[in-house]
Amino acid sequence: MKAAGTGPAEAGPRSTLLVDKHATYIKSFSRLWDTPDKLEFVATEHFWMSGMYWGLSAMYLMGRLGDMDRDAILGWVMRCQHTNGGFGGSERNDPHLLYTLSAVQILALYDRLDDVDADKVAAYVAGLQRPDGSFAGDAWGEIDTRFTYCALLCLSILGRTAAINVPSALDFIAKCKNFDGGFGCTPGNESHAGQVFTCIGALSLANALHLVDRDLFCWWLCERQTKSGGLNGRPEKLQDVCYSWWCLSCLSILGRLHWIDRSALTTFILDCQDEEDGGISDRPDDMADVYHTFFGIAGLSLMGYPNLAAIDPTWALPVEVVERIKRRNEAAASASGK
Ligand code: FPP
Ligand code: ZN
Repeated sequence: MKAAGTGPAEAGPRSTLLVDKHATYIKSFSRLWDTPDKLEFVATEHFWMSGMYWGLSAMYLMGRLGDMDRDAILGWVMRCQHTNGGFGGSERNDPHLLYTLSAVQILALYDRLDDVDADKVAAYVAGLQRPDGSFAGDAWGEIDTRFTYCALLCLSILGRTAAINVPSALDFIAKCKNFDGGFGCTPGNESHAGQVFTCIGALSLANALHLVDRDLFCWWLCERQTKSGGLNGRPEKLQDVCYSWWCLSCLSILGRLHWIDRSALTTFILDCQDEEDGGISDRPDDMADVYHTFFGIAGLSLMGYPNLAAIDPTWALPVEVVERIKRRNEAAASASGK
C-alpha cells in the first residue's frame, strides 16, 4: 500500500514524511501492555510513561492524536501515580522524576491537568532538590542536569515553580558549564548535546539565558552536523536522529536555527524512516523505535516541515498546548490574587 506523505513530492518512498505509517507504528507501541508475552513488553515496561509521551506528542504534531485511545491512556497514567505524588514508568515501577514529568506532559496534551493534585506532585518534586540546588531523579539519589529540567518543566506546567529554590537550581546549572560553552550532567563532566538541551531548557524556563555564551555555544552546536547531514551529540560520535532535537531545540531557543544546513538534516531524518512498518530509527536502516520517531518528527517540526504542528523548543510540547497551559496558569494566578 502506498503511504500518504505530507512533504514535497520527490522520488523514493523516504522522500516525504510517512504519516500513516508512523501513526500505525505508534498505535502499536501504545498497545504493548496488552501483549505481556512479547520481548518488547519486558524490555520497555520501565519507561512506558515516557514512551507514551513521545508517541502521543508525535501523534499530536502529525494531527493524529485522535487516533489514540484517550480514556484507556488517561486511566493508565493515573494508575501509575504513587501516594507520594510521583509517577512510575509503569504501574509496576517506582516513582521517578523522568516519568512524573512525562505523566504531567500527557495530561497537558489531553488538557486534563485538573485530574492531578498539583500540590502533591509539587511536593514530590521539591523533595528531590538538594542543598546545592541540584535534583535527584528519585529516592536513590542520582544527580543529573536532566532532573533539574524535569523538575522545572513539571512545575512550570503545573504553575508551582514557587515550591522549589529556582536561584539555587540555576547556580547548579552554571557550575556545569564548560570551556566550550556547553554543559555536562554534573560539574566537571564533558558537554553532551542531550545535557545541553536540559540546561538551556531549564535556563529558558527560568528566564536566565543571559548565563549562556551564545556564539561560542552555538558554534559548538553547529559543529555537531556531520557530512551525512545528521547531528551527533559530542565530537567524534556518530550522527543520530534524536540529536536533531537535542541540538536544534537549543539553536531555536537561542535564535540560531539558521546556522546549520536544515535541508541536509531534513533529508537525513527522512532517510531514517522505516518505509514498510513505520517509525524512525537513529540512523538509516537501523531498527525504528518510538523515541527516535518522536525526536525525528519534533526536529522536522522545529524546521517548519509542511503540515506538522509547531513544537515549543523549551517545553517539548506543541506550541498550542503550551499556550493553553500559560493561559490556565495566568487564570489561576489572577484568581488567587498573585
Ligand atoms: C541523550 O540520550 C539525551 C539526553 C541525555 C537528554 C535526556 C533528557 C531528558 C530525559 C529530559 C526530558 C526531555 C524531554 C524532551 C521532555 P541517549 O544517550 O539515551 O540517546 P542515544 O543513546 O540515542 O544517543
Ligand atoms: Zn539517539
